[in-house]
Amino acid sequence: MDRTFVMVKPDGVARGLVGDIVSRFESKGLKLVAAKLEKLPEKRVREQYQEHLEKPFYPSLQHYITSGPCFLMVWEGRNVVKVARAIIGATNPAEAAAGTIRGDLAMDIGRNVVHGSDSPESAKREIGIHFAGTELVAYKRIDEPVLYE
Ligand code: RTP
Ligand code: MG
Repeated sequence: MDRTFVMVKPDGVARGLVGDIVSRFESKGLKLVAAKLEKLPEKRVREQYQEHLEKPFYPSLQHYITSGPCFLMVWEGRNVVKVARAIIGATNPAEAAAGTIRGDLAMDIGRNVVHGSDSPESAKREIGIHFAGTELVAYKRIDEPVLYE
């Protein structure tokens, strides 16, 4: 099954939105296979956002992501990278559709509450940055037989 990396950013944790955000992925039918609350060291933030290191917004992005604890998750499901990005919504909350996390819960591109990997390759790379293989847990959701045809 496909996997993706999703992270509630420090504003989401500080605003008490972890439960709401986890619930949206859970009720969609995705399977949580790893999770932890952690203040990220700069090195891992640089690795995660390597494609943005030279962008003008990178210093403020790093400051934001290291400003408090993040809630890191790995979710499993068919086409999960695409499905998770749809649940998260557009990068700029002002353009994110109602019903998405950013559309419902955020106001500013620099405080957009949640991260999700943008491709299966990024997902594999980002899971490797933040989780040891032993932290990923295999189990069955009781609704698996009715979630998929
Ligand atoms: P993310 O990686 O956090 O899931 O967000 P994303 O794919 O939707 O957007 P991306 O282009 O990868 O940007 C990463 C994060 O950098 C911040 N950002 N600020 N001020 C700006 O113009 C700007 N652009 C991007 C956002 O926090 C964005 O989520
Ligand atoms: Mg991105």
